[in-house]
Amino acid sequence: MSAPAPGGPHEFGAGGQRPISLVRASGEYLWDDAGRRYVDLGATHGVGNLGGSPPDVVRAIERQAHELLYLGSGYRSPVRTEFLGKLLGLLPPSFDRVFLSNSGTEAVETALKIARGSTGRREIVAAMRGFHGRTLGALSATWRKELREPFEPLVPGFRHVPFNDAAALEAAVTDATAMILLEPVQGEGGVHVATPEFLAAARAAADRTGALLAFDEVQTGIGRTGRLFAFERWGIVPDVLLLAKSLAGGVPIGATVTRRDLEARFRGSHHSTFGGNPLACAAGIAALEMTLRDHLPERAERLGAIARSRLAELPPSRVREVRGLGLLIGIELRDRAAPVLAELERRGFLAIPAGPSVVRLLPPLVIQEAGWDRALEAIGEVIGRG
Ligand SMILES: Cc1ncc(COP(=O)(O)O)c(C=O)c1O
Repeated sequence: MSAPAPGGPHEFGAGGQRPISLVRASGEYLWDDAGRRYVDLGATHGVGNLGGSPPDVVRAIERQAHELLYLGSGYRSPVRTEFLGKLLGLLPPSFDRVFLSNSGTEAVETALKIARGSTGRREIVAAMRGFHGRTLGALSATWRKELREPFEPLVPGFRHVPFNDAAALEAAVTDATAMILLEPVQGEGGVHVATPEFLAAARAAADRTGALLAFDEVQTGIGRTGRLFAFERWGIVPDVLLLAKSLAGGVPIGATVTRRDLEARFRGSHHSTFGGNPLACAAGIAALEMTLRDHLPERAERLGAIARSRLAELPPSRVREVRGLGLLIGIELRDRAAPVLAELERRGFLAIPAGPSVVRLLPPLVIQEAGWDRALEAIGEVIGRG
């Protein structure tokens, strides 16, 4: 990774950018403005499950743009109805309502309001190392001190328990809890996979107290972890499911998936001007169809298993642990991740960190086997040589 530079001209608060200007993408490849090709091992933190500019999604956007580019949620829209029907058709029948917005953070904010509005309670229980976004509500659920402290006081009523500590979670959830908010795999926090016991304890605590259970699958959703939705692996169904990133194949979208009975008790209004716009919905339909047609969750499972067995051979003197599910993989080093990321970039592979010592791999799920093999080879050489 080249040394982080300030943001491009006129960009506010965009420090830490890599000084590469990327101009084109296809499949797992990205090209810079000098024509150099890179393999994308970060997929914009999980947006690019379908790879760069997937042709089916591009065609759907083109068609929709010619017909109807924008429409607020105050009117019915066949393309929105079709998208929501498709999405709900992939989920357990307890889910029958969706609020569409434009980002993961907005999906989280919506869930917080649904929880407080429908339960009349104020407290939210989240996990240490969790990441849920950076607006004031979502930031209150996010753990990292350096992200939170400059903006305090945040929204009151948030508590954090150690991730995967079922007893601490059970103790924290009371009759005052509106919602338990968890990532099934913590992405930004270092790629930590929830234990079945922890998720089962969360479900039981929510049932015992009447709190809602929300899974933030903004990063784990839509095939990334080897299932369409990570929660399917454990069969523990939340009351609220948060999706974004890859849901519309690269077009901004956020979705808060929930139930009709919560809508009936939801006091207050919520609205998003661009939420559910026709462009995002048309892209979403194409993205879901491609995900199913090309069996991308199964691909993620298979390519993830190959990676884990290859990465297990890395020397323990360099690697503390390899974690993850499907194609969301964290390699925790005994040293800093930055020099490894820099050397990978020099060799044409763009990976991202998850904390100071974790190299995170989340390539497009469409990555070709030969390309994945070359990436793992390079990672092995770079980490292995110490
Ligand atoms: C689990 C999780 N939740 C929420 C967010 C925030 O999403 P967005 O950046 O689209 O607002 C992220 C972003 O990385 C995330 O990983």
